[in-house]
Amino acid sequence: MDAGTPQNRDTWGSKTAFILAAAGSAIGLGNIWGFPTQAGLNGGAAFLVIYLIAVAIIGAPVMLGELMIGRHTQRNPVGAFKQLAPGAPWWLIGAMGVLAGVIILSFYSVLAGWTMAYIVRAATGAFTAGVDTAAMFNDIAARPLPAISWHLGFIILTVFVVIGGVRDGIERWTKVLMPVLLVLLVLLAVRAVTLPGAGTGLAFYLKPDFSVVDWRVVIAAVGQAFFSLSLGMGAIITYGSYLSKKDELVSSAAWVTGLDTSIAFLAGLIIFPTMFATGFDASVQGPSMVFVILPSLLSTMPPEPYGGLIFGTGFFILLGIAALTSSISLLEVGVTWAVDEKKWPRKKAAMLLGAIAFVLGIPSALANGAVDWLTNVPGVGMDFLSLLFTIFGSFALIVGAFFISIFVGWKWGVKAGGDEVRATDGRFRLEGIWTVLIRFVCPAALLIILVQTLLDTF
Ligand code: PFF
Repeated sequence: MDAGTPQNRDTWGSKTAFILAAAGSAIGLGNIWGFPTQAGLNGGAAFLVIYLIAVAIIGAPVMLGELMIGRHTQRNPVGAFKQLAPGAPWWLIGAMGVLAGVIILSFYSVLAGWTMAYIVRAATGAFTAGVDTAAMFNDIAARPLPAISWHLGFIILTVFVVIGGVRDGIERWTKVLMPVLLVLLVLLAVRAVTLPGAGTGLAFYLKPDFSVVDWRVVIAAVGQAFFSLSLGMGAIITYGSYLSKKDELVSSAAWVTGLDTSIAFLAGLIIFPTMFATGFDASVQGPSMVFVILPSLLSTMPPEPYGGLIFGTGFFILLGIAALTSSISLLEVGVTWAVDEKKWPRKKAAMLLGAIAFVLGIPSALANGAVDWLTNVPGVGMDFLSLLFTIFGSFALIVGAFFISIFVGWKWGVKAGGDEVRATDGRFRLEGIWTVLIRFVCPAALLIILVQTLLDTF
């Protein structure tokens, strides 16, 4: 179905379907790869605490704000701001979201491509006790042809689902698969915390040492919270725009935020005990971390010798699906925009934007050992993929969320937003707290973080 004018737009089948789709967007590589990677680099438990605070006082209110804008206007992010603030430049926030969506998709698909390669490895019996998982990772990521081919394969999958549209494409996939992922993660967490030597990892993850906290840690935690919740770039505006006028907003926002945060927490509970129990601590860092550590846990799953095969294949299939339900939302922002504003057919929009994301992603695909100067970008001290993640997966989302909070808090107005909630929820519980957060706390905290980021960088 095409998302055309508000009159003939598709909608989610139910509130549950929306929650699962939005949770599908939120839950992805950001939870299972991004969160443990960032927590590992930024002090463990202290990062976790700051992350949780950021989710509660900045993430959740902005999530509700994006949902209000989306559901009220039933438009793409650019069109939504144009409708609510005609003739003013607010639509640029939406435009930045469309751009960020395509660029994030470009590197997200590289990581998701690795996931697909791991499905094949696991299914063909590579996950056996004592396997050299670092060598396995290099074999996939450091060779140009496999790295680019898997990236291409994943983009094609994403385009395919998005062409299917909201209800027939996105909704059908997420409804079944998200619950299965949750169950498997709980099983893996139980396995990880009962490994011999898991205690050191648990302490690293759960016993905060605030002496390690500096601005860098705070910036990383806030950026990670937005990335993980799919906020700051209009993905939730877009998904909210397909929400029916009958479905409650506050509980939807709470569910999506809660589910996403629980999965990130669980991922940490899997990674850190495993990391310390298997002696990986200092040697593995950055984007490869999860792809090297997790397989070593999966390889130890009972029953011998099939555990690695069963759990390994199952895990990476589910991770691939979690990545897919996120990548479709990254593409959907641009597609909804092109369909609404440019009147392109959905198919053309998905294929063209997908092709752009593929080409833009090639340098990221070559940034993990295939090409030296992309693996270690001169003068930057990180690889190209991490650089894009820092700029578009973190900084741009913080900028976007800052303006969204100003827009909802001061321009469009907390009254209009509150009315949108009351239209379905009857009353707006926590309105007072939300108002203070979106008007004062979010903009102030985000502004401080932006200034600090600029001071740190230059
Ligand atoms: N939230 C997704 C994840 O955690 O993997 C990534 C993402 C999707 C970010 C959609 C932003 C977005 F708009």
